[in-house]
Amino acid sequence: MFDGVSGRYDLLNRVMTLGQDSAWREAMWRGVPDSARRVLDLCTGSGTSLTGLLRPGRTVLGVDVSLAMLRVAADSLAGAGWAPRLACADGFRLPLRAGSLDAVTVAFGIRNLRPRREALAEIARVLVVGGRLSVLEAAAPEPGPLAPFARWWIRRAIPFAGRLSPDPSAYRYLSESIFEFGSGPEFEADLAAEDFRIVARRSFLFGAARLWVAERRPPVGQKATEPADVAQGAMFDTGDSAQARSRGARVGDEGAAWRLLQAVTSTALAAALVWAVSMWLKVRDDLPLTPPQRLGGSILLVGGLVVFAARSLIQWLRWSASRDGGVRHP
Ligand SMILES: C[S@@+](CC[C@H](N)C(=O)[O-])C[C@H]1O[C@@H](n2cnc3c(N)ncnc32)[C@H](O)[C@@H]1O
Repeated sequence: MFDGVSGRYDLLNRVMTLGQDSAWREAMWRGVPDSARRVLDLCTGSGTSLTGLLRPGRTVLGVDVSLAMLRVAADSLAGAGWAPRLACADGFRLPLRAGSLDAVTVAFGIRNLRPRREALAEIARVLVVGGRLSVLEAAAPEPGPLAPFARWWIRRAIPFAGRLSPDPSAYRYLSESIFEFGSGPEFEADLAAEDFRIVARRSFLFGAARLWVAERRPPVGQKATEPADVAQGAMFDTGDSAQARSRGARVGDEGAAWRLLQAVTSTALAAALVWAVSMWLKVRDDLPLTPPQRLGGSILLVGGLVVFAARSLIQWLRWSASRDGGVRHP
């Protein structure tokens, strides 16, 4: 199925997440300790999450079962001066030794891996004890004032946008699988059952997407004894990583300030257009214009207002997603 949608996947992903997915991915990346040396992005698809995992001295591996998606990833990363290792493999049978990774990320992929507990057991197998799992996933809306809109977006808008894709049935599946995944408690129970301890969680866009950062606990009855470099890879606050994190926080602050500026500018333009539309409605009949010219003026002003109102909403959502640089700890 993913082979069939690989060509337009990234574009549709942008549309369906209202352009928010990059901010959410940034939060997922922050769930990976800077000191992690061997990191797997599972269900990597077109590789959108790979570049943000890049760190000096780190090996980044992207695994997906769809060869066509991996081709898109290879093409988009060609010429970037950096080649992540891509492998076509099944998430249930990873071609990796036990305990060979310091961290695993999965963006919008865990929903597809069923039975989920088996997939989590395989991830736990390849992670060192204390290793991190950072999962970003689209979730079913929880009850609340915006739940009807969110349900409409997933049930109607996503399958509708999917008509642009060569395989619209894939987007119906996508919509159904979000409801099947649930709003989170079921996933958290599976994490706990497979020896993961949740260390941070976040919710984005009123719960439309969620992030979990979990740590692999030692299996029951086994003590956590790992080589020093591996244990360091699993920690957040070594000296170097603290420095890198403070650098990251500065970059995050600048990103948030820039998004705030964009949001304020867009809102000011939208407000100016509200005023312009109200003036236009008052005076347009008195102006020496032909009916087509009046219609054109109305379309331009009202269209501009709709565009800038939507843009302002998106900019404020982006700003709110980037404002809190880190992941929240429970
Ligand atoms: C919704 S896409 C997400 C792609 C990417 N992570 C992103 O954030 O855009 C889900 C991906 O999971 C992959 N996938 C599904 N089942 C898989 C499995 N059993 N093993 C590995 N990858 C799988 C699909 O091929 C697809 O590329």
